[in-house]
Amino acid sequence: MLLLVLSALLLLFCNLDVWYFLRGVQVFVEAWFLPRIEDILAEQSIDGMVLPHDLDYLGHMNNSRYLRECDFARFHHYMRNGLFMASRKLGAKMVVGASTIRYRRSLAFREAFQIRTKVLGWDEKAFYLEQRFVSKRDDFVSAVMLCRQNVVGSSPESIIEFIYKKQVSGFKHSS
Ligand SMILES: *[C@@H]1O[C@H](CO)[C@@H](O)[C@H](O)[C@H]1NC(C)=O
Repeated sequence: MLLLVLSALLLLFCNLDVWYFLRGVQVFVEAWFLPRIEDILAEQSIDGMVLPHDLDYLGHMNNSRYLRECDFARFHHYMRNGLFMASRKLGAKMVVGASTIRYRRSLAFREAFQIRTKVLGWDEKAFYLEQRFVSKRDDFVSAVMLCRQNVVGSSPESIIEFIYKKQVSGFKHSS
């Protein structure tokens, strides 16, 4: 029986990025219990640290891990400012349409950092975001990523309208 469970787990971990999905759940739950952020243009930051999982042969955070961390940071961001729920309600999907990243200084093993995410703007198809990795050692910006978050099945404008209408009607009810 134990052997069966272990083999099933092995199979799962070999074929699926289990940590990715667990981390997604963790971000969701964490953000759920934090207060909502009303201003969708507000910069939000989350804390991170370089773990053994992130390392490559050079012993620093591998370039691809930055994008992965940015993913979770954006998810957190959208959870807190309502973009996530609004896009779900409107049946929209948010996919990355483009990204570009500049690496300015390596993040070393166990180095603590913040990811500061903000929405820079939007057009009829996509939101544009900036995500900065800031070392907690000296506030140095170690990497900067720009990302186009395409909205499929709706539009950024409808999502924003949805969020702010809800806020306005919520305000009316409480007054
Ligand atoms: C490092 O990043 C490259 C992509 O540039 C990827 O192919 C590789 O698997 C990554 N290595 C590790 C150890 O994460």
